[in-house]
Amino acid sequence: MDIDLPLELRSAIENLVGPSKRVIEAVREMSGRYRAGEGTCLESETDTYAYAAYRMPATYAAIYAALEQVRSLLPRWSPRSLLDVGAGPGTAMWAALTLWPDITKVDLVEPNQRMVKLGKQLAARSPYEAIRRARWLRADAESIPQGPKYDLVVMAYVMGEMDERRPKVVERLWGRTGGLLVLVEPGTPAGFRLIRADRERLLALGAKVVAPCPHGETCPVEENDWCHFSQRIARSSLQRKVKSGELPYEDEKFSYIVASREEVPKPVSGRIIRHPHIKPGHIIFQVCTPRGIERVVISRKDKDLFRQARDARWGSLLPEKAGLRHDRQEGRGDEGLDPEE
Ligand SMILES: C[S@@+](CC[C@H](N)C(=O)[O-])C[C@H]1O[C@@H](n2cnc3c(N)ncnc32)[C@H](O)[C@@H]1O
Repeated sequence: MDIDLPLELRSAIENLVGPSKRVIEAVREMSGRYRAGEGTCLESETDTYAYAAYRMPATYAAIYAALEQVRSLLPRWSPRSLLDVGAGPGTAMWAALTLWPDITKVDLVEPNQRMVKLGKQLAARSPYEAIRRARWLRADAESIPQGPKYDLVVMAYVMGEMDERRPKVVERLWGRTGGLLVLVEPGTPAGFRLIRADRERLLALGAKVVAPCPHGETCPVEENDWCHFSQRIARSSLQRKVKSGELPYEDEKFSYIVASREEVPKPVSGRIIRHPHIKPGHIIFQVCTPRGIERVVISRKDKDLFRQARDARWGSLLPEKAGLRHDRQEGRGDEGLDPEE
C-alpha cells in the first residue's frame, strides 16, 4: 500500500521549505552522501530544510511501515509513551501518532540544535497535542540516563552517525524500553549488518523478536545477502522539484527489527522477504520461517488461499494456511524469483 505524509506535516514542510537553489544544491549533496552510506551532514539551516524536503518523507515511510507491521501483529497494543532517539525533525513521532493517536507522552533526543528547531516548527502544526507538546532533549544517545521506561522506543536512520558506539546505545535504549524497541536503518547491506548485530545483542539481553522475523532463532540470511523491505511513498510537488524527479512516488528500502520485553504470539506463517513471483497458475514466495528461508508455491487450484496470496506483499506475512505447504529452499539460487530491485 502506498502511503503519504500526514497532510499537516506535508503542508508544514512546504510552507517552511521553498524549492530555492540553495535547498536544491543541499539536496544534491545530501543524496550523494546518502548513496555513499555516509551520515547526514546537517551544518546549516539549509541542510535541515533539505533533509525535511528530501529524506524526511522517505524515513517517515520506512518507520511507518515497520510500525504498521507491529500494529497488524498486535492490534490491541496501544502505547501511551514514546521515546525517539536521533529524532531529527521528529519523524518517528509523526508516524507513531498516526498509528496510535492515544500516545500522550513524547520525548525526543536529538543533539543537533538546528534539527530541534525545525522539528519544533513542524510539530507546532500538528493536530495532536502530544506532538505539539513533545519534549525535545538536546543530547547524545549515549548520554541517556537510566530512568522510567517508555512503551515504545524508536531509533531510526542514525547509521553512519554512531557506528562504534551503537552496541552501547542499543543497550541503553533497551534499558528504557517497557514495551517495544524499534530500530530502522537503510535497506542496504551495511544497514542490515547493523540491524542483524542489534538483533543478536537484543536476543542476548532477553528480548523477544516481534518483526520482521517470525522467530528468535539465528538469522538465516546468508552473509552475501541482506534482509530488507520497501515502502512506496507519494512524492509531493516540493519533493519532485528539489530532486528534479518526475515520478509521483519513490520507494524507500529499509531494514528493521522490533524487539519486545514480553513474549508475543508467534505468527503461524513466514515473513515474505522478496517480491512474490506471479506466474499464470501459481505464486511463488520466498519466506523467512523458524525453519530457515523457504520457498512456498501457492496454486490457483487452492482458490481461497490463492485469493489471499494475491494480496500478500513483500514485507507482509504469508497467509496462515500457506505456512503448511512449503519446500525448503537452499540459498537464493532458485529459478522462479525476481531480483528485488
Ligand atoms: C539521518 S537523521 C534521522 C532522523 C530521524 N530519526 C529520521 O528517521 O528521519 C540522523 C539523526 O541522528 C542524529 N544523531 C547523530 N548522532 C547522534 C547521537 N550520537 N545521538 C543522538 N542522535 C544522533 C543526527 O543529529 C540526526 O538528526
